[in-house]
Amino acid sequence: MSLTEAQFESLKLAAMDVSGNAWCPYSDFRVGAALLGADGRMFCGCNIENASYGLTICAERNAVAEAVAAGCREFLTLLIYTPTAQPTAPCGACRQVVAEFSPDLEVVSVCDGPDVLRASIRQLLPHSFGPQSLRDNSDSCD
Ligand code: THU
Repeated sequence: MSLTEAQFESLKLAAMDVSGNAWCPYSDFRVGAALLGADGRMFCGCNIENASYGLTICAERNAVAEAVAAGCREFLTLLIYTPTAQPTAPCGACRQVVAEFSPDLEVVSVCDGPDVLRASIRQLLPHSFGPQSLRDNSDSCD
């Protein structure tokens, strides 16, 4: 199912808004993410950095955490906003985490310039490891 113009605009506004709450004093790279749940609800996240750099959590994974905690585990679209000239694709860790819940997710990246990046999570994470990999091989380690 593809995103309507109204859904696109509301995800974009929400992602832009939440990017303003990013805690990113080390990278100064703000990210806002808005997830559209299959039930129509929207969940947002921003990146949260830490003085212990490796503890940083990306905006996309914070949006997933908010959704799952609210009982939503199926997503239609992930929209990522960065206040940059070019759109930003999600990092590998975030691709893996969203694919866990929605193998058919649509990913849209927007920025302050005119370019928009659109891809399916299958395109962004081909031949992925997922819940199916465990099910298919559950008796192989005996
Ligand atoms: N970041 C995200 O929030 N999402 C991504 O997909 C890539 C990177 C954040 C993490 C860190 O706070 C900053 O961007 C620079 O890497």
